Amino acid sequence: MRIDILTIFPEIFTPLDVSIVKRAKEKGLVEIKIWNLRDFTKDKHKKVDDEPYGGGRGMVLKCQPIFDGVERIKKENKEGKVILTSPQGIIFNQQLAKKLSKEKGLIIICGHYEGVDERVLSICDYEISIGDYILTGGELPAMVITDCIVRLIPGVLPEDAPVYESFERYLLDWPCYTRPANFKGMEVPKILLSGDHEKIKKWRIQKAIERTKEKRPDLYRKFLKMGVKDG
Ligand SMILES: C[S@@+](CC[C@H](N)C(=O)[O-])C[C@H]1O[C@@H](n2cnc3c(N)ncnc32)[C@H](O)[C@@H]1O
Repeated sequence: MRIDILTIFPEIFTPLDVSIVKRAKEKGLVEIKIWNLRDFTKDKHKKVDDEPYGGGRGMVLKCQPIFDGVERIKKENKEGKVILTSPQGIIFNQQLAKKLSKEKGLIIICGHYEGVDERVLSICDYEISIGDYILTGGELPAMVITDCIVRLIPGVLPEDAPVYESFERYLLDWPCYTRPANFKGMEVPKILLSGDHEKIKKWRIQKAIERTKEKRPDLYRKFLKMGVKDG
């Protein structure tokens, strides 16, 4: 997969240079390219924003550098689906991440200031929000979306890893523990030390169901609707 990110803060993307995303890039499973929106401006001051029509506070990212940037990126990422990060978009979740991980390419536009000129939406396939709150810019959402999608690309994680993670099958993950078996009097459940893998699997699924019911009744209802009771 190829992911391109268009931003006025290209230097901020260092979290995509570590851990799983870094290894995915090294293995050639994903190519990530960060583009500076200012490189697509046409004036000597590299101005990407202007005042809003109708007055009011804040600045708005202009159409021209974004349209030209996306057009240039599409020369390299021909089939890239264009995503505008926006608090007004559909809420990003694991299901959407899965769908997007099957695309050949993505082009993510990071907004800033008061947002982007509304006409930018005409070149976007998706308008995506990472939650009902306002961030300063689209850079953190772009990283959230990229990180989440990259770990779903086949070959990035071990074969079975994402299957049992939270939100798969509308269940939260089960509780996990590591050494020591007793920490400050808090014991690891005996079953996990038993070596009986069949019983451990059943226990884990039971715990996943219980904690989903307790912590996320909304998800639990979806899980029940699916009619799946076992791993
Ligand atoms: C300060 S916000 C603009 C908010 C806009 N005035 C509004 O009220 O809808 C600037 C940029 O940050 C990004 N952004 C902020 N919050 C976001 C969120 N929850 N999800 C995705 N992008 C977000 C978008 O790219 C947005 O254009």
